[in-house]
Amino acid sequence: MAEPLLRLDGVHTHIGQYHILQGVDLTVPQGELTMLLGRNGAGKTTTLRTIMGLWRASTGTLHFADTGLNALATPDIARLGIGYVPENMGVFAGLTVRENMVLAARDGAIDQARLDWIFSLFPALTRFWTLPAGNLSGGQKQMLSIARAMIEPRRLILIDEPSKGLAPAIVDALIEAMRELKRTATTIVMVEQNFRMAQALGDSVAVMDDGRVIHSGRMSDLAADPALQARLLGLSLGVHQ
Ligand SMILES: Nc1ncnc2c1ncn2[C@@H]1O[C@H](COP(=O)(O)OP(=O)(O)OP(=O)(O)O)[C@@H](O)[C@H]1O
Ligand SMILES: [Mg+2]
Repeated sequence: MAEPLLRLDGVHTHIGQYHILQGVDLTVPQGELTMLLGRNGAGKTTTLRTIMGLWRASTGTLHFADTGLNALATPDIARLGIGYVPENMGVFAGLTVRENMVLAARDGAIDQARLDWIFSLFPALTRFWTLPAGNLSGGQKQMLSIARAMIEPRRLILIDEPSKGLAPAIVDALIEAMRELKRTATTIVMVEQNFRMAQALGDSVAVMDDGRVIHSGRMSDLAADPALQARLLGLSLGVHQ
């Protein structure tokens, strides 16, 4: 197995009085796409937010390569080269697509070759370049949100449910774009409910339930084992095509 780039050991997170993460152990191999699965409320988003320092771990440790994340502020965590595509996409509706992209680049300068590559993956962004991002459809906003995370080379990208609410044809386009991103050997953690997408893209997989990781392994092993899927995810044969 590849070297871990990100590692969570026994991470507990409280939100107010609620004890949400209850000892998350998660290892994210370098250069792979790790799928984070689990039912609604399992703690997937809270895990990503804890990695970004948006929630604080009360106990346990988080490491990115050799750097401890526990004491770092969110901007410092991002500066290590970690991009975050939140569940609500974080798109600025009143700004143009271009302005949204410029804001995502660390020094405000966009590399043209990289932008051309992103345009080839998400052609709609070219069309709406100078229009307010609020005019985009849900799928296009999702593309913009991912494009923002790709505007600079990142060492790690965290993506929360990119396929949420998207039509199957758009999901296919998204899968293709994610395959292209994977070719750059960027390490990715992706939360997904869509098992077709999870199966198409995942190298490794971690399944959460009740604030813990209850299974981790290779995505191909989980994809090949309907009984395990049924036990871990409540999936039955045929329903996730
Ligand atoms: N701000 C908050 N205040 C109180 N409880 C919260 C808050 N955010 C999340 N929770 C609770 O924490 C638990 C985990 O939520 P989280 O959003 O991490 O789940 P998830 O796995 O991402 O679910 P989903 O698939 O629905 O997005 C849930 O029970 C949720 O109600
Ligand atoms: Mg969530």
